Amino acid sequence: MKTILTGIRSNSVLTLGNYLGALLPMVRLANQHSGEYQVNIFVPDLHSIISDVDGDLQENIVRTIKYYLAAGLKINENVHIYRQSYVPAHSELCWILDCVATMGETSRMIQYKEKSKGQESCNVGIFNYPILMAADILLYDATYIPLGEDQFQHIELTRNLAMRFNHKFGEIFTVPAKTAEQVEFMGVPDGIRIRDLLNPEKKMSKSTVAENSKIMLDDEPEKAAKKIMSATTDSIGKIKFDMWGQPGISNLLQIEALITDVPLQDVISTWAGVTRYGDLKKKVAEGVSTMLEEFQTRLAEISNERVFELFESGEKYANEVAKAKLLEVQKAVQLR
Ligand code: TYM
Repeated sequence: MKTILTGIRSNSVLTLGNYLGALLPMVRLANQHSGEYQVNIFVPDLHSIISDVDGDLQENIVRTIKYYLAAGLKINENVHIYRQSYVPAHSELCWILDCVATMGETSRMIQYKEKSKGQESCNVGIFNYPILMAADILLYDATYIPLGEDQFQHIELTRNLAMRFNHKFGEIFTVPAKTAEQVEFMGVPDGIRIRDLLNPEKKMSKSTVAENSKIMLDDEPEKAAKKIMSATTDSIGKIKFDMWGQPGISNLLQIEALITDVPLQDVISTWAGVTRYGDLKKKVAEGVSTMLEEFQTRLAEISNERVFELFESGEKYANEVAKAKLLEVQKAVQLR
């Protein structure tokens, strides 16, 4: 059985970008494929501590899993939920991959460049982040890793490390699918990047200070609707999907497509010829506020106990699989 695997850091409450770019696609894929694939959903808690955590990390971890359940994730025997730090093989494989990765390729990671920019000194965890991510993926021989577009470079790095390791030490790792195949599998041809509502050239990010530039999953639905109504657009007067020329409008079309689960092309056709941006904003604002209301109601109904139950069985499974793979790797590099 092939494996689909993904994780979302749990530093804080998540944004609509995390939800539409990673959480919802994963839930849709898991529900669709969990009969024929193993589905691994984990909380990269070790990745969470590369920067300060907002609030209480333990609470954030539990809430992140509740998000998946509130987004409609169906659990069966092929769906595994676990915490990264409860499976020590992740850190151990990370070290071995550190000895395969080069400073040059790791320094080229955009996320590292962005996160270290302007910092007098940057912690080594930020630099090592994508290698740990590669370990997260390769331990389980995962083929598909649903992620937002900002993470594609890390998938390419993971593929390169797997191929280099296999070439040197024998066929140990499954090489994850190429980015193009990943997005095809996710059904979103160009990948997903939800934009900052005020500066749509940038991605929506939890670390942006301006409140109106991002929608948080715990925003009051009405407040979220207002943020959409005040989103930056342009003065072109045409509703067209053009991420470079009209990023604000394109962002709204993208959000609409993901929330309604209608292919982007169909949403684009529906709005072609409409000139009043207010109509599109109103439709998206209503959609986002209804989505948030339903999501928050479901979220409140999920107990902590339910999440810990899932961790218990998921971590047992993850440790078995990861330990076996780690042993293969240790033997290959002659540590065993
Ligand atoms: P994190 O927490 O930084 O991001 C979580 C997910 O949210 C997506 N995302 C977005 N998608 C669309 N538009 C946005 N504005 C937006 N902002 C965030 C990200 O692409 C990501 O999918 N490194 C991973 C965590 C991780 C991981 C792994 C994932 C660690 N190990 C192994 C998969 C497999 C990350 O980016 O988390």
